[in-house]
Amino acid sequence: MTCDVTVNVGGEIGAPDALRISALDRGFLYGDSVYEVVRTYGGVPFALPEHFDRLARSAGRLGIRLPERAEIERQMRRTLDAAGHDEAYCRIVVTRGSGPITLDPTTAGEPLTVILVKRYAPFPDWTYARGIRVAIPQIRRTSRASLDPAIKSGNYLNSVLALGEARAMGCDDALMLDAEGRIAGATSSNVFVARDDAVATPALEVGLLAGVTRGLLIEIAGRHGIRCAERAMTVDEVVDADEVMITSTLREVQPVVEVAGKRIGGGVPGPLTKRFGVLFRGYVVERTLRDRVQGPR
Ligand code: PDD
Repeated sequence: MTCDVTVNVGGEIGAPDALRISALDRGFLYGDSVYEVVRTYGGVPFALPEHFDRLARSAGRLGIRLPERAEIERQMRRTLDAAGHDEAYCRIVVTRGSGPITLDPTTAGEPLTVILVKRYAPFPDWTYARGIRVAIPQIRRTSRASLDPAIKSGNYLNSVLALGEARAMGCDDALMLDAEGRIAGATSSNVFVARDDAVATPALEVGLLAGVTRGLLIEIAGRHGIRCAERAMTVDEVVDADEVMITSTLREVQPVVEVAGKRIGGGVPGPLTKRFGVLFRGYVVERTLRDRVQGPR
């Protein structure tokens, strides 16, 4: 298929404009959906069990009925095959379905699974070599008591607005604070800071998405004897850190060299950030080889 994005809507695969999603779909009307973003390494989808677990947790929190995991995976693999990329980005969306135009979630019909696949495009080399600049926007992360950021729902307006503010300030991304001013994470990634050889990342209790990359890095750090605390942290702690990095499926480990106009460390990516990047890559290679032989588990 030659188009940029290959789409699977309820089992039918085609180009994005060739397939239809009802204008009454609640994902469209209310962001009433959950999703995951998975990427491949060497053509093998990475960390599938973690992504499916999180999708199930998100759906559970919203009361959206998910199709069987095996069926989602089958549709995902069909879409990846149809797209035929060496390395792919894959977004799995499950909406609550369509129904009458009313907020009432009990009126929804059947959930709809939509899968989008495109070629995986890495972030530019300079973002890793020189590091990125992040703003701290006015808008705050939604609280756990309103729309818990631990739920990966299709409602990403909070992050959209934060990134819009950051872009208007000439920055690459935004670090978001919760209502109490604690660091929650970036718009679509988690944040780690390093100081005096110790690493820390905001605790889940602050209200943030439990990133798959974040979880793996905490594990990997532990195995290599790098202390990595999960705790609340302030803007001052981040600005005073030796190193700041953001992590996600798509970014892996990306250095941050400026926060809210203040230079971090020497203004260049630091040794722990580089080490995290290398250790993560090593883990990816090991796990991808294992998954290729044994299948994901
Ligand atoms: N975003 N925090 C937020 C708000 C996110 O949207 C993401 C992922 C992460 C990192 O999670 P993970 O390591 O599992 O990718 C943290 C994906 C990549 C996205 O929506 O495109």
